[in-house]
Amino acid sequence: MAARHFLTLKDLTSDELNGLIQRAVALKAKRNRGEIYEPLKNRVLGMIFEKSSTRTRVSFEAGMAQFGGSAIFLSPRDTQLGRGEPIEDSARVISRMVDIIMIRTFDHSLLETFAAHSKVPVINALTDDFHPCQLLADVQTFVEHRGSIQGKVVTWIGDGNNMCNSYINAAAQFDFKLRVACPEGFEPDPALTRQHADRVEILRDPKAAASGAHLIVTDVWASMGQEEEQAEREQQFAGYQVSPALMDMAAEDALFMHCLPAHRGEEVSVDMLDDPRSVVFDEAENRLHAQKALMEFLLLGPVQD
Ligand code: CP
Ligand code: NVA
Repeated sequence: MAARHFLTLKDLTSDELNGLIQRAVALKAKRNRGEIYEPLKNRVLGMIFEKSSTRTRVSFEAGMAQFGGSAIFLSPRDTQLGRGEPIEDSARVISRMVDIIMIRTFDHSLLETFAAHSKVPVINALTDDFHPCQLLADVQTFVEHRGSIQGKVVTWIGDGNNMCNSYINAAAQFDFKLRVACPEGFEPDPALTRQHADRVEILRDPKAAASGAHLIVTDVWASMGQEEEQAEREQQFAGYQVSPALMDMAAEDALFMHCLPAHRGEEVSVDMLDDPRSVVFDEAENRLHAQKALMEFLLLGPVQD
């Protein structure tokens, strides 16, 4: 049977994704009880990182260790990946030696090419276009704090980047409404927006977008690979900062999320992450539980116990 990959949220059905969220909650409880659970004993995760990471690396590596398996960190600096070995050959070779692979890279099509030549499941650990693992953690966090996200209003403030595109996919898969407030020229993927026009709305005014929302989310103004645009983007995004005052426009029980790392004083005010409505550190922790659920699902199928 061909390996199942997780390149975007659309690679799993809505039912499978909701099952994963429930499983992530259960795996978190298991770990909090101190139970040893090693369903992936002797399995190996290959981790290819072409961009920096703290949360993604630590959560995948720790998750695999907790599951009784192990992980190998691979960077282009010290492998043949950085010396021009074709991606198709790298995929064929690495996937003959490990059981599952995660990749963080720039070009989404590179990830697709790798997956097309891999014998084992491939997970998107962030590309320029999507960051689906983060959405698993975000939805888990919402569910834990507020119950089902179905039918809720989620507002994205800032750059229409890889996270924002993944929020569009999440709106479709988890059945919520998404408002995006961004400056002109920084919209999310237009084709994706058109495809989900029934649930995605693009606005310019952050206050109007935040009004009555159940969840407000933002991200950095310059993503990895856009460092040289930082100064220019700071000007273009002025007015799109999320602060406790902006949160006051949202629903009374609204939550705030950010995938982190955050730039205090830019996309968030200095006090936003410490506001009682912010759940960013639960969100970061849930990367661990959600990705354990994902790896278990891709290797063993749906598990309940
Ligand atoms: N949110 C996230 O993916 O963080 P890292 O870049 O630290 O992995
Ligand atoms: N949009 C950010 C997310 C980092 C986790 C980036 O791509 O750099």
